[in-house]
Formats: sequence, C-alpha cells, structure tokens
Amino acid sequence: MKFSVQQGNITTVSADAIIVNLFDEVVKPSGATGAVDVALNSQISDLISSGDVSGKLGKTTVLYPASGAIAAKRVIIVGLGSALDFDLQAIRRATAASVARARELGCKTVASIVHGAGIGNLDAQSAAEALAEGALLGEYQADLHKSARRSNNIEAVEIVEFDSQKLAAIDAGIAAGVAQGVATNKTRDLVNQPPNICTPSYLAAQAQALADNSNLSLEILDAADLEAEKMGAFLGVTQGSAEPPKLIILRHTPENVDTDAKPIVLVGKGITFDTGGYTMKTGAGMLTMKSDMGGAAAVFGAMQAIDALALNIPVIGLIPTCENMISGHSYRPSDVLTAANGKTIEIISTDAEGRLILADTLVYAQRLKPKVVIDLATLTGAAMVALGQGQAAALFTADKQTLQNLNDAAEESGERIWHMPLYPEYSDYMRRSPVADLRNSPNDRYGGVGTSAAFLKEFVGDMTWAHIDIASVAWLPSGKAVKPLGPSGATGYGVRLLTKYIRNLI
Ligand code: BES
Ligand code: ZN
Ligand code: ZN
Repeated sequence: MKFSVQQGNITTVSADAIIVNLFDEVVKPSGATGAVDVALNSQISDLISSGDVSGKLGKTTVLYPASGAIAAKRVIIVGLGSALDFDLQAIRRATAASVARARELGCKTVASIVHGAGIGNLDAQSAAEALAEGALLGEYQADLHKSARRSNNIEAVEIVEFDSQKLAAIDAGIAAGVAQGVATNKTRDLVNQPPNICTPSYLAAQAQALADNSNLSLEILDAADLEAEKMGAFLGVTQGSAEPPKLIILRHTPENVDTDAKPIVLVGKGITFDTGGYTMKTGAGMLTMKSDMGGAAAVFGAMQAIDALALNIPVIGLIPTCENMISGHSYRPSDVLTAANGKTIEIISTDAEGRLILADTLVYAQRLKPKVVIDLATLTGAAMVALGQGQAAALFTADKQTLQNLNDAAEESGERIWHMPLYPEYSDYMRRSPVADLRNSPNDRYGGVGTSAAFLKEFVGDMTWAHIDIASVAWLPSGKAVKPLGPSGATGYGVRLLTKYIRNLI
C-alpha cells in the first residue's frame, strides 16, 4: 500500500474509489463530501433524507456515479459517528472500515480526504497519521498460510487535500502513520504465525533480517550465554523444550545523542508456545497460546517503527524467548530455581512461566542503566478477567511521570491502558514460600494480575519501571463486540503505544 499526498478537489481524481465522510445527524453535507454531492446532483443529500445512508461510525455506503459525473468509478461514504464523540480513534475506525470495503470491492487505487482535518477540527498532522494507521490496519488479512492468498491488495492510497496550507502537516502525519501501521502489521504477522514456524530461532532470524535492513544493531544470547549470566529462572522454563532459547537484544542508537544518554529499555515476553508445562492448560486454554509472544512481537514492532522514524533517543529492546513444553527434561512444580540476582523461586505452577523469563531479563536490564524500563507481557488470564477482551491492557507503575506519559500515549494512539494498584500485600503474598525467597504463583487465583506484577518487582532493583499486562488485548477472538481495527486474531497491540510514548519524550 503506497501513500501519496496531493492538493486538489476529490471530484476530479480518477481512482477505483474515492472515500468521503459523513457525520451522524448531518442532513446537508459540506466540504469535500458536499462537493461530491453537488457533482452527483444531490444524490448523497437525497439518500440521507430517505434514510438510506447514515453517518454511524464505520458504516460504509457505496455509490456508482453516472459516467462523467466525477472522475472516480465509485464513491464510498463512511460514517464518522457523532461530531461530539469525534476523535483520532474514530478516524482510524472509519478509515479501516472504508479501506476494508474498498478491498472487498476489488479496488486497487483509492483516494481519500483527511477525515477530521476540515469540519472535525482536529490538527491535520494527527488526523493524517490516524488515517494512514487506519488504512494499513484495516487492510490487514491473517491469511499467511492460505494456498490462495488474497490478490486484492489496495496498491495506492492518494490523499487529497483542498487546502494547500495543510499539505506539509499531512505529509508528516502520513509518514509517521505509515511507519507505525506497517510495524503493527509486522507484529500481527509474527503473532499470527503458527508456533511450529514462529519458534525462538525464527524470532531471532526475523530480528536479524530487521537489523540487516535498518540501523538497529543486534546481539543474541544463546543458552550458554544465559548460563553464564546465571539466568536460572529463564533456563528452568526452557529446559523441557527441544527448541533453543534466545535473548534477543535490538539497539537503536541515534548518532547525534550523547553517548552517556540513558536508554529507554523495552522488554517483551516471548513464549512462542505456552502449554502450561506440567501444570498443563486445557485444550481450549492452549488454543490461543501461540500469542504468548505478543509482548515480544510488540517490542519488535516498536523497535522497527522507532528506527523507521529515526527517533532521536536511545532505545534498547530485550526479547527473552523460549517455549513452555513438557518432556522428561521439563521443570516441575516444587522445583526451586535461582534467578540472576540470586533470589530463589519455588515453582508452584509451571504455567506461571512468563514472570520467570522476565525476571532474569529485568535483572539484565539493570546493567543497561535505563532511564525507564517498560515490559509488555501476555502475563495473566486474570488481566482478561479484570478488563475484558480487547478493551485495555493492565498497567502497573509507581512512577507518576511514567504513568502520565503512558496515559498520554494511550490516549493519542487509541491503545488503552488502565492503571492497576501494586499493593505491598501482593509482594508479601508472593514471598510466602516455606522453602525459597519467592514462589512463582500464589495458591489461589485472587488478584492474579497484581500478584504477577509484585513478583516482577522483585527483579527491578532501583530502575524506573512500568509493567503492562497485555493478555487482555494482544489477541482478539472472533465474534467479539468490540470493533477492532482489522480482523480477529493478533491485534499488534503495543507498537503504537510504545512508539508514541517514545516520540513524546523527545
Ligand atoms: N500465558 C498465560 C497467560 C494468558 C492466559 C495469556 C490467557 C493470554 C490468555 C500465562 O503464562 C499463564 O498461564 N498465567 C497463569 C498464571 C497463574 C498460574 C498464576 C494464569 O493466568 O492462569
Ligand atoms: Zn503460562
Ligand atoms: Zn504464558
């Protein structure tokens, strides 16, 4: 999908479809939609008054103009919802819906106005950024392994703006939106890949390909390195698997930044398949567990976007990745593991494996002396019980500034977070092992999202830290009430939140 921006009047642009918009409650369209209405002899106003077209958010209506009326073959009218509720997320949703409709119609070229830059009164740059994201996310298909992969890709999206004063802002917005949208779809691909393909070695090879095609540098720690680092918790999880573990380290180092500038460190849980181990999951519970590397994929995508945007701030992505399998070599409940900081952990549940690989990685992060460390992990089913599927991720942080910054980034990116408490009692509860310093799971399920965060806190030292449990948002089952920006399955959650967060720090 290639984007271009031009000044002009959308009625004169030849494309397989042009996309215009309509707010709810509008009876006489104005702006570009009004211009198209005039060219079509009031067809749009007539359809509004007969109730055949509506401005409900994401609703699309296709018109086939009489030949010669306008230059394009089709007009797609997309609803923007109520003007009172209008925001950047409405732009993403409307664009995703209209692009998906154009794709279904077999359109190769579409032209669109920037929703919201006119009567919506949003700033043109943010509106254009949301538009590019919506188009890329809406076009995404999870058909990696279909013999007959779709051929109906949209090749070109032409953005048409009447006001030449806004063109520079729109150009900048499109560039940012494309970087973030492309990276999000890459993250979706990684998560949607089946676990026999997306192994730790596959993620390492993908990281190599990313490093080869960018300015990111790559270092990969293998099992021997993890042993040298005394990462006993990580090694305990991986020991039942035939696939070798990796700790993937991607570095973004801008040239014109002080060499002693502290990096932002991003950490992503990369369990490429979670059977639960001997504390085994049910068949149904295991069915979505290829998505247990959603945090790793989000950090991967964020690093890709941060590089593409050449953000002037050092960022390091740490991706611990392995499988959680059963075999004669697997770790057992009652085993005691020793993490890299010397803390001993009694294994209560082999299914609480994510916190173990993150524990050693957080200890490793301390030596990078980060300004802030943020981890993303599909850590607990409890996050989903608390917040639902597809609504928001669970955020834990004690740092007020980081909370503010992440809340701002969530608001702007549309990737919602909800701040959860980290009560000291959760920590006391995780320390209640008769045989070791910690236990990896309590023996009940209450407050499971908070107790998992309290466990991670034991490995954070004095770093400024935020933990985001994305189990509630990384994967969207089909048939959910929420309207996703794309198909069910991998959402690519976190790429845009993290990238926005880092952009706002500059
Ligand atoms: N990967 C799961 C969490 C998960 C569950 C993610 C459902 C997405 C959807 C994690 O490793 C896990 O199994 N956590 C346990 C923790 C418990 C044993 C303390 C859980 O949530 O049950
Ligand atoms: Zn698990
Ligand atoms: Zn897991």
